[in-house]
Amino acid sequence: MHTRYGPPEVVRIREVARPAVGDQDVLVRVHATTVNRTDCAYRAARPFFMRLLTGIARPRRTIMGTEFAGEVEAVGCGVTSFSLGDRVFGYNEGAFGAHAEYLSVPEDGSIATMPADMTFEQAAPGTEGAHYALAAIRHAGIRAGQDGLVYGATGGIGSAAVQLLKSLDVTVTAVCATESLALVKDLGADRVVDYTAGDFAEDEQTYDAVFDAVGKSTFGRCRRLLKPGGVYLSSELGPWAQNPVLALITPLLGGRKVKFAFPRDDQAVVRHLRALIESGDFTPLIDRRYALDRIVEAYRYVETGQKIGNVVITVAHAD
Ligand SMILES: NC(=O)c1ccc[n+]([C@@H]2O[C@H](COP(=O)([O-])OP(=O)(O)OC[C@H]3O[C@@H](n4cnc5c(N)ncnc54)[C@H](OP(=O)(O)O)[C@@H]3O)[C@@H](O)[C@H]2O)c1
Repeated sequence: MHTRYGPPEVVRIREVARPAVGDQDVLVRVHATTVNRTDCAYRAARPFFMRLLTGIARPRRTIMGTEFAGEVEAVGCGVTSFSLGDRVFGYNEGAFGAHAEYLSVPEDGSIATMPADMTFEQAAPGTEGAHYALAAIRHAGIRAGQDGLVYGATGGIGSAAVQLLKSLDVTVTAVCATESLALVKDLGADRVVDYTAGDFAEDEQTYDAVFDAVGKSTFGRCRRLLKPGGVYLSSELGPWAQNPVLALITPLLGGRKVKFAFPRDDQAVVRHLRALIESGDFTPLIDRRYALDRIVEAYRYVETGQKIGNVVITVAHAD
């Protein structure tokens, strides 16, 4: 938990009471969770305006954590869709609390039974990056037969975006570093571009959609990569928060445009991701695993901006 905003070291391990379980709530005994870039942003309150949502001077929610996988330990008296012992996974941005041994989630929240034949560690990283990628892809209306480029294809969002685009029969060019070229091919990319060997924005091909999944480019830089009418997407606001602004202006001008997605994280999204995992279209990519008592180290690593896919936290229970 954290009682103030700041670097990874503000995170402390504490004994706390189990969360209350309301009539419509599901109590999850968490076996695996993740540390992701969303957790880092809330922990540090970066960008600053996030404090409007999470508490101006200090965080209102002290137990962090968004993604979880575990077993249903108890249910409220009004719960009908989950039973004791169900293996579940999901996403709890806003309320958080997934970095604890027990998490109480509304029955109609972003929770679903886990994909069959998966471990908790495999399922926990199934929602954060993927729901951002899914939101962007849906918002852009990318269709089968189109050409897409994913910049930052090894990140949590980028590795999901490559796979989700392939599941839609989009031809995917993925941009990553030299050491990840083979890995990104394995994710399904049709073509890979090494960003360390030259500027990817000088690529000769053009695309229906360019998805900057690492937030390091701009529309201006990528414009020439877009076909007429093509769409630029980014997982970041961009310099001076230009991406949401350009998303309002560029559609009025015709031609190439910016779209900026505000993701939904409801139960339908988690179920959709489960279906993609079960069909083999999406496998959450795992980089490192840490035990819960090493979570500060996990935060430090995630904050390097160099994780490959996802960082999983295993939660051991004493009993
Ligand atoms: N809108 C939101 O609310 C929201 C939520 C979550 C994340 N984000 C933002 O979205 C971005 C991506 O998040 P994420 O979790 O997917 O990131 P991540 O997992 O931390 O991944 C970054 C990946 O990008 C690669 N990379 C770093 N520099 C690169 C470059 N110049 N060109 C190409 N690849 C590069 C890294 O590998 P190499 O270093 O080996 O290349 C790493 O695999 C972050 O900026 C994050 O803050 C936004």
